[in-house]
Amino acid sequence: MKPLVVKELTKIFELREGNIFSKRKREIYAVRDVSFDVDNGEILGLLGPNGAGKTTLIKMLCTLIEPTKGEAYIKGYSITKEAQKVKQNLGVMLTGERALYWKLTGRENLEYFAALYHLDPSWTKSRIDELLELLGLKDRENTLVENYSTGMRIRLNFAKALLNDAPVLLFDEPTMSLDPQSSRLIRSLIKELRDKGKTIILTTHYMEEADQLSDKVAIINYGRIVALAKPSELKVKVNKSKVIEIEGRGFERLEELNIKGIMKVDYKDSLLKVYTEDSRELLPKLLEFLIGKGVQVSNIKLPEPSLEDVFIELTGRTLRD
Ligand SMILES: Nc1ncnc2c1ncn2[C@@H]1O[C@H](COP(=O)(O)OP(=O)(O)OP(=O)(O)O)[C@@H](O)[C@H]1O
Ligand SMILES: [Mg+2]
Repeated sequence: MKPLVVKELTKIFELREGNIFSKRKREIYAVRDVSFDVDNGEILGLLGPNGAGKTTLIKMLCTLIEPTKGEAYIKGYSITKEAQKVKQNLGVMLTGERALYWKLTGRENLEYFAALYHLDPSWTKSRIDELLELLGLKDRENTLVENYSTGMRIRLNFAKALLNDAPVLLFDEPTMSLDPQSSRLIRSLIKELRDKGKTIILTTHYMEEADQLSDKVAIINYGRIVALAKPSELKVKVNKSKVIEIEGRGFERLEELNIKGIMKVDYKDSLLKVYTEDSRELLPKLLEFLIGKGVQVSNIKLPEPSLEDVFIELTGRTLRD
């Protein structure tokens, strides 16, 4: 069995709405029949807009909330029946500031959690030293967390997830509201962990992060996984490039560009951008037309679809809406 296996996991939240005269119950499928697995040395990127169900999924996997239906196994242990074993095999970073004690220093926080996780005391000190060093917090280890910057808190929270050197790691938006430098650090650490053989789930709003880091990307929308594949495979799905970029001279000679299939035209100086449903279909006709009008074409580009294009195509939504 793979180190992380998820089977038809479902979470329904029941909300009570209305007022004292008319109460209604409403069910929200936060996560709906989600199944996947993640191997050793593999990163699964979970990509979805606000409210898609990413955090709910992570919270079920780390036994913070109970699934309504379905099951998942961490290193073979059931999240519904063997919570203790599951927690021993997990390192988790959740979003939100409540994960740390603000009245303790950075080092004290890690010491506290090490004790809570029953880590071997003979090992704890060197592990904490190593992590503080790794996350660039060594010289601020004795500062109270309430006096940390947001970025420092996020880095400490990341260190906390690594404390027990668990084989399976869950990171919920690990680089959200981080400066570029700290984001780069966290991303490179996540890659190193993957290369050491860890099994990793990472949720993110950032397309580029998902694209760069993930071995597989799961796109989640309204609680369901709508696509799951390597980033490159997902991009192939949207094989119709949506824009043609043409560099050249003489565009000012064009009075109109009236060819079937053109949705919009943008033109500035020596660059013409043509938006279409299907650039492969349009390109030959467009070139013939331009050359016929005396335009000198020097370069043609069909930009590759991004993960963002895939996302919009599959969900009809943008990531932050
Ligand atoms: N404790 C709760 N009670 C009721 N509904 C909840 C609860 N937690 C989450 N939800 C609902 O479940 C859905 C999924 O929320 P979730 O936090 O998992 O989304 P998310 O993908 O993490 O979003 P974001 O990108 O904003 O972090 C949302 O509709 C949310 O309102
Ligand atoms: Mg979330």
